Amino acid sequence: MGTRGTGTRGRTHGLPAERTSFVGRRREIAQIRRMLSAAPVVTLTGPGGVGKTRLAARAAATLGGAFPDGVWMVDLAALRSRELLAPAIVEALGVRDHTARPPLEVLTGHLKDKRLLMILDNCEHLVGECAAVARTVLRSAPDLRIIATSRQSLRVPGERLLEVPPLGLPPGARPPAGQLARSEAPRLFAERAEAAAPGFAVTEANGDAVVEICRRLDGIPLALELAAAQLRTLALEQVLAQLEDRFGLLPAAGARPAHHRTLRALIDWSHGLCTDEERLLWSRLSIFAGSLDLEAAEAVCGGDGIAADDVVDLLSSLVDKSILISEHDGESVRYRILETIRDYGRERLEESGQAAALRRRHRDHYRRLASETRARISSPEQVSWLARLGADHANLRLALEYCHTEPGQARTGLAMAADLMYHWVNGVYLGEGRAWLERGLAAETEPGDVRVRALWTDGVLAIIQADIASAEAVLRECRTLADDRRDPMALAYIALGEGLLALGREDPVAAIPLLDDAVRRFRAVDDPVGVVEALIRLCVAHRSTGERALAVSIGKESLAVCDRHGLGWHKAYTLAVLGVAVCERGDARHAAALVSEALRFNRSLRDQRGVGLDLEILAWIATTQGRLQRAARLYGILDTLWARVGDPPPSGYLHSAAHAEQSRSRARHAVGEPAFHAEFARGAELGYDEALAYALDEEPAGPGSPAGPDRLAPLTARETQIARLVAQGLSNKEIGRSLMIAQRTAEGHVEHILGKLGVDSRTQVAVWVSKQDPDE
Ligand SMILES: Nc1ncnc2c1ncn2[C@@H]1O[C@H](COP(=O)(O)OP(=O)(O)O)[C@@H](O)[C@H]1O
Ligand SMILES: [Mg+2]
Repeated sequence: MGTRGTGTRGRTHGLPAERTSFVGRRREIAQIRRMLSAAPVVTLTGPGGVGKTRLAARAAATLGGAFPDGVWMVDLAALRSRELLAPAIVEALGVRDHTARPPLEVLTGHLKDKRLLMILDNCEHLVGECAAVARTVLRSAPDLRIIATSRQSLRVPGERLLEVPPLGLPPGARPPAGQLARSEAPRLFAERAEAAAPGFAVTEANGDAVVEICRRLDGIPLALELAAAQLRTLALEQVLAQLEDRFGLLPAAGARPAHHRTLRALIDWSHGLCTDEERLLWSRLSIFAGSLDLEAAEAVCGGDGIAADDVVDLLSSLVDKSILISEHDGESVRYRILETIRDYGRERLEESGQAAALRRRHRDHYRRLASETRARISSPEQVSWLARLGADHANLRLALEYCHTEPGQARTGLAMAADLMYHWVNGVYLGEGRAWLERGLAAETEPGDVRVRALWTDGVLAIIQADIASAEAVLRECRTLADDRRDPMALAYIALGEGLLALGREDPVAAIPLLDDAVRRFRAVDDPVGVVEALIRLCVAHRSTGERALAVSIGKESLAVCDRHGLGWHKAYTLAVLGVAVCERGDARHAAALVSEALRFNRSLRDQRGVGLDLEILAWIATTQGRLQRAARLYGILDTLWARVGDPPPSGYLHSAAHAEQSRSRARHAVGEPAFHAEFARGAELGYDEALAYALDEEPAGPGSPAGPDRLAPLTARETQIARLVAQGLSNKEIGRSLMIAQRTAEGHVEHILGKLGVDSRTQVAVWVSKQDPDE
C-alpha cells in the first residue's frame, strides 16, 4: 500500500531539544533547501563550535514537511568503531530488526523508496565509512536526502558542500543599537548574556563593547556563548578587557587567527576560570560517550581530588559556565558535553596520565549497571532498569569496546554481554547483542560459567532472529558444558531454547515437554522471568494442539507470576498470548480487553514490536467477532507500522504466519475486496497516535483527521492549511493544484499569511509552522 500516514509527514525524530533560542541562519537554511532540491547529500563543514549541528537540526525541522517519511537525526559523535556505523543508523531510525541480516542490508531495505531526510551529525571521524554507507543506500533510495555535518567533505558523488560561516557581524564600526539587534552575533551574545546575568540588555552605552566582543570572537557561536557565561561573575567591560589581553590588538582581517584558534583561546580562558575541581571533573567527564547521569558521574569521577558528595554541585557550576548541558527527561537529569569541549577535556585528561584509570572506572561502572539490571530483571523495577540501559547504550558500548581492546578483559566483556540479555532482547539491539556475544565467545574460550551463560544467551537471541542453524549450534555446545557442570540455570535455558526451536518448527507436540521441563527448572532456581518466558510459550503450544482450557489456565498462571513479581514487560506479552487463548475459547470481548491492556503498556514503553504483535491480535479478534471493517483498518495500521519500524518478527512467536494470513484473507473475503481496501487505506493513513487510539477504541478517529489542530491562531482554518503546505515546501502553483484552487487565490492567501505573521519569507512561515505543530 503506497499511502502513508499523514501524521508522520515531516515528523522529526532524535533532534536535540532546543534548550536555547535559535538565532539567524535564514540565508543558510534557504541555501540548504536549494542544494537539497538538486543533490542527495549536503555536507555542512566547518570547525567545531561554528554551529553545524544547530543549523542542520533547524534546517531539517524547517524542511521536514517535504519528507513524508520524516526527518531523522543520527548522532555519530560517540561511535568509536566503524563496524557499528550501520547498526547505529538502523537504531536511530527506529528500525526494529529481528533477523540476522547484515545491518547495511537492513538499512538499505528500510530506506528503499522512502522520502526521508536523514542527518548524519559528526561524521568527521568516520568520513570514509559514512561515504560508503551513503553511496550504498542512495543507490536504491532516489528520494532520500542526507545532511551531513563534518569537519571535511564526505566525497560522495553529487555531494554539495556548505561551509558554515560564523554568525554575521554588523557592518561598520559603530552601528546604532537598533541595528545591532538584527545582527546575528550580537543577538546571540545578548540572549545568552541575559540568561547569565538577568537584566542584561544591549543599550547605546554598551553596544560598542558588545560588538567589539563579537568581532574578537569572530562571531563563532560557541565562543560567544562561553564569553556570555562569564557575565555571571564579570562585568561586560571586564570580559572585553580579558579578551584584549588574551588576543592582543585586533589584527587586520587577513591576518586573523583561524576560527579554531579563536575558539581554542576562549576555551583556554573558560578553563582557566574554573576551580581545580571543576577542571578535574571536566577532564574526567570527557571519558563518557553520549550523555550520563549523576550516579555515573559520582561513581566514575568522584574521589582522588573530587569528593563524591561535591560532584552534583560541580556539575551545576559547569552547566552555568556553558561547559555542560543538562537535559531533563521526566524525573531524571542527564548531562551532555559538546564535542569541542569534550575534546579539550580529553586532552587535559591524557596529559594528566589518568586516562587509563578513568577508562577502567568507566567500564567498571557500566559493568556493574549491567549486572544489577540482570539481577533486577525479576522485579517491579525491570522496566525502569531497562529504560536506563537504553539511555546509556552508548556508554555500555564503550565499556564493551574497552573489554575487547584492553588485554585480559575479554571474559569480563563476555559476562557483561550476557548480563545485558534483556537489553538486547528489548527490541532494538538484537544484532548488536549477538555481535558482542560472538566476539566475546571467540576471544574467551575457557569453558567456565561465563561461557555457558553467554552461549544460552546467544542461543535465545538467535532464535528470536530465526537464525535456527546458529541457535542449534550454540545450544548444542552449551548443553555439553552444562551437563558436565550440572549447571541448573543453563539447563533451564537450554530447555527453553529447545522448546522455542520446536515451536519454530511448528511442532508443538515436541515443544510441550521441553517447555514443561523449562518451567520446572526455572522454578527450582527461583527465576520468575524464566518461568514466565516458558509459560508464555507453553500457552502458545497448548493452544496450537487444541487444548484451549489448558492454554487459558497456563496464561493465567503466567499472569499471576507477573503480578506477584511486578514484571510489567512480561505481563504485556502474557496478556497478548492469553488474549488469543481466551478468544479461541469464545470470549472475544474479554480477549480484546486483555490485548488492549497489553497494547497500552507496550505503547507507554515504546516497544514497537510488542505494539505490532498486539495490533495483529486485535485485528484477528475483530475478524473473529465479525467486525470486519475494523479488522481491515487494523491491518492497514499494522502494515504501516511494520513499514516504519522494520519487518515483522518471524512467525511462530505468538501465532503462526499461516494462522495470521488466514485471518487476514478471511476478513478480506467476508467484507469484499473494495471495502477491505478502502478501510485498509484509512488505517494506513492514520498517524501513529491516532492509529493506536483507534485500535484501543479511545476515540473515534475519522478518516484522514489532520495531524495538528485545524486552526493555528491568528490564521483561519484555510490559511492554516496553506501555511502547512508552504512549510512543506510547495510552490503557489502546487498549493493551488493540491487544494483545487486557482494559483492566484493561493498567492492571495500566502500574502495574507505573511502579513498576519509579520514575516517576509516562506521560510519564516515554515519556521513558524514548525513551532506551532510540535514534533513527536
Ligand atoms: N544559530 C544559532 N543560534 C543559537 N545558538 C547557536 C546557533 N548556532 C550555534 N549555536 C550554539 O553554539 C554552540 C555550538 O554549536 P554547534 O551547532 O554544536 O556547533 P558544531 O556542531 O559546529 O560544533 C551550541 O551551544 C549551539 O547551541
Ligand atoms: Mg556538532
